[in-house]
Amino acid sequence: MADSPVVLLGVTGGIAAYKAAELLRGLQKAGMEVRVIMTNAATQFVTTMTFETLSGFPVRRDAVNELRADSRITHVEDSREADIMVIAPATANTIAKMANGIADNLLTSMCLAFNKTVVVAPAMNTNMWEHPATQHNVAVLRDRGVFVVEPGAGELACGVYGSGRMADPDSIVAEVKLRLQVQRKRDLRGLRVLITAGGTREPIDSVRFIGNRSSGKMGFALARAAFDRGAEVELIEANVDMPAVPGVRQIMTPTAGEMHAEVMKRLANTDILLMAAAVADYRVAEGPAGGKIGKGRDEWSIGLEATTDILCDVAAHHEGQFIVGFAAEYGLEGLDRARAKMEHKQLDMIIFNDISRADIGFDSDFNEVRILTRDSEVLVERAPKETIAEIILDNIAQAVRARRGETMLPA
Ligand SMILES: Cc1cc2nc3c(=O)[nH]c(=O)nc-3n(C[C@H](O)[C@H](O)[C@H](O)COP(=O)(O)O)c2cc1C
Repeated sequence: MADSPVVLLGVTGGIAAYKAAELLRGLQKAGMEVRVIMTNAATQFVTTMTFETLSGFPVRRDAVNELRADSRITHVEDSREADIMVIAPATANTIAKMANGIADNLLTSMCLAFNKTVVVAPAMNTNMWEHPATQHNVAVLRDRGVFVVEPGAGELACGVYGSGRMADPDSIVAEVKLRLQVQRKRDLRGLRVLITAGGTREPIDSVRFIGNRSSGKMGFALARAAFDRGAEVELIEANVDMPAVPGVRQIMTPTAGEMHAEVMKRLANTDILLMAAAVADYRVAEGPAGGKIGKGRDEWSIGLEATTDILCDVAAHHEGQFIVGFAAEYGLEGLDRARAKMEHKQLDMIIFNDISRADIGFDSDFNEVRILTRDSEVLVERAPKETIAEIILDNIAQAVRARRGETMLPA
């Protein structure tokens, strides 16, 4: 097939390596061309011949400095020719190397050379999966934009029952299909998208501040997804501890005042504004004290004054931009408040999430949201923030298209 998407399938050394053969078949059935790279450890579990026969291509192996038959450097050229990379099963070892940028074999070298979408399906013993080192490494990869297909629970090869079993090949195929669709979706091309992320901090003195628990993960996921869909993206961020988003201009604004100024400066050159940041409503009234205020008093009252409400100011000045607010509310009864906020601030859309739930929202990799417009409400059930970001952008792209009376956004 001339324009079938090309998948680089990395197979690493775990028991689940045999399931990679079924995955390869599934990817082919979904219309993809698959090229396999195996680590040396993987070849102890399954032979290269299995994958060569199934894929119809030679299997690449561990040699770091390898040239192809056409004398080009394998890890660079193969990476360039592929559309997506899938590592399944991904061992704890390979995940750790990826998180640390180690490139000591062909597969991990490719991981660094590859600048498109990467999907990882971890598979390992429960203790290995739950180990803080592995959990940390997986979180690092996620923050960097790698898509992780969570392992499920079940009986493992080591005889115990627990989490760590590789997701079933069908769900990995589904994730790869979704990622390829998104890659090909360029429905925000030519549009300028401004996103705020993180939580502002209002200083009390040189060391203390009034802040909130927002991690910035939702805003970063939106920025990455909007860029992938062809938008020109600027990200105004407050106190986010995450790696840079390639292709996206990032502006640091630690306080509400600075964020307000940067948003207003850019508003006229924006088509879509997404206010995902948690912005402080109050700051210290008399300005932060220099140095560190000492202890030694039984009580301490700090006078606060309201910060400027950015969305209200945007409402007063906007000229046809599509404005999306976020409402982090406690409990489902917050839905009415979210609707009222949409009306009051003249928003085109508001994304409601319930922060009373511990399994979603603040500092979590997951979210569950309701996308509200004046005449619709869409529930997006609990999913990784990357998936939520895609669905939010689907809804925005559709609404912007409808407003412009277009069937297609600019090509
Ligand atoms: C029988 C056996 C089964 C293994 N299964 C797994 C596994 O499922 N997941 C894992 O992370 N490591 C597993 N390991 C350990 C890896 O093979 C080992 O960490 C190896 O260095 C991984 O290399 P690679 O990441 O380059 O493929 C297993 C080892 C043995 C001997």
